[in-house]
Amino acid sequence: MATRVGFISEKGGVGKTTACYHIATCLSQEHDKDVLVVDTDYQRGGITGRFLPDLIEHFRGGELPGTTLNTKFQQLYSGQRVTTEVDVRETQEGPDLIAADPRLAQVTVEKMPGSNSIRVNNQHLWNHLSLLDTVLRRFDDEYDYILIDSHPDISDVLRCVIYACDYCVSPVKLDLQSTIGVATAVEAINEVNADVAMIHHAIPGLVRRDPAQFVGAMGMMSREWGGNLKQTEWAEFRRLQRSGGIFENYVTEGDGLRQAARDRVPVFQVKGANAEKQSQQFRDLTTEFITKCPQK
Ligand SMILES: Nc1ncnc2c1ncn2[C@@H]1O[C@H](COP(=O)(O)OP(=O)(O)OP(=O)(O)O)[C@@H](O)[C@H]1O
Ligand SMILES: [Mg+2]
Repeated sequence: MATRVGFISEKGGVGKTTACYHIATCLSQEHDKDVLVVDTDYQRGGITGRFLPDLIEHFRGGELPGTTLNTKFQQLYSGQRVTTEVDVRETQEGPDLIAADPRLAQVTVEKMPGSNSIRVNNQHLWNHLSLLDTVLRRFDDEYDYILIDSHPDISDVLRCVIYACDYCVSPVKLDLQSTIGVATAVEAINEVNADVAMIHHAIPGLVRRDPAQFVGAMGMMSREWGGNLKQTEWAEFRRLQRSGGIFENYVTEGDGLRQAARDRVPVFQVKGANAEKQSQQFRDLTTEFITKCPQK
């Protein structure tokens, strides 16, 4: 049974895609896990471009060929039965990928057919919120982990991601500004869980997943001084530790990951002292990830 984990933060550029890409690759290559990555970032499709650069031209052109998550939402909006097949692509790094579709930007629950029946409307809201879960269920027996990268916005797509997940993590730069993204991520998880609890009472016989759990922030692009976090970053780390929680292991800011992004390879393949340091940090982070988001 796959353990599903969402990488979420309302703040952009904090390392969601970098964390998701490296942890997925490390789970696959060093822990022999079967991993599926789902890209729901409709604006950048960053992880799709990282795994399968050829798809980025399609992405920039406004749509992806084949059956994507957008196809599923369109089925829902037009009142058709939602079929669960969706294109899964293999990658060189190991994980399989459900690629991003820019048309997901137009997904909104407001496109569901309206009705003056509260019961019918509740069912529509539910069908929308649970759509990603419905699609991913067919992969639960095929993979050990399903990791979901997301767009930095509390959209209806992100609500679907939260509902579909067992766990959520929130990558963060350890500065005051970006740690705001952690608080809003926790709020969004609580909102979705409260909505699900309510709708559970409203729709008899509804089978729901266990609520998504917030596992913690994840320090990305951290800065050290003399082998320890800089004082301001350490203060932020401690604050997060006391509030929602933070992974003990973090990744430092540096050229290894920049070069890896430029060459579209994992940092594990980049040579040099900094890349080796960051590779080890990702290995340690992945080991902690397995402990905090255990396999079902
Ligand atoms: N530790 C690091 N050291 C140096 N550069 C990094 C590090 N981590 C990430 N980066 C770079 O920072 C940029 C932002 O990272 P990333 O794309 O992972 O953030 P994101 O949260 O996914 O952004 P978005 O919200 O736009 O999707 C990327 O260019 C990435 O290569
Ligand atoms: Mg991203």
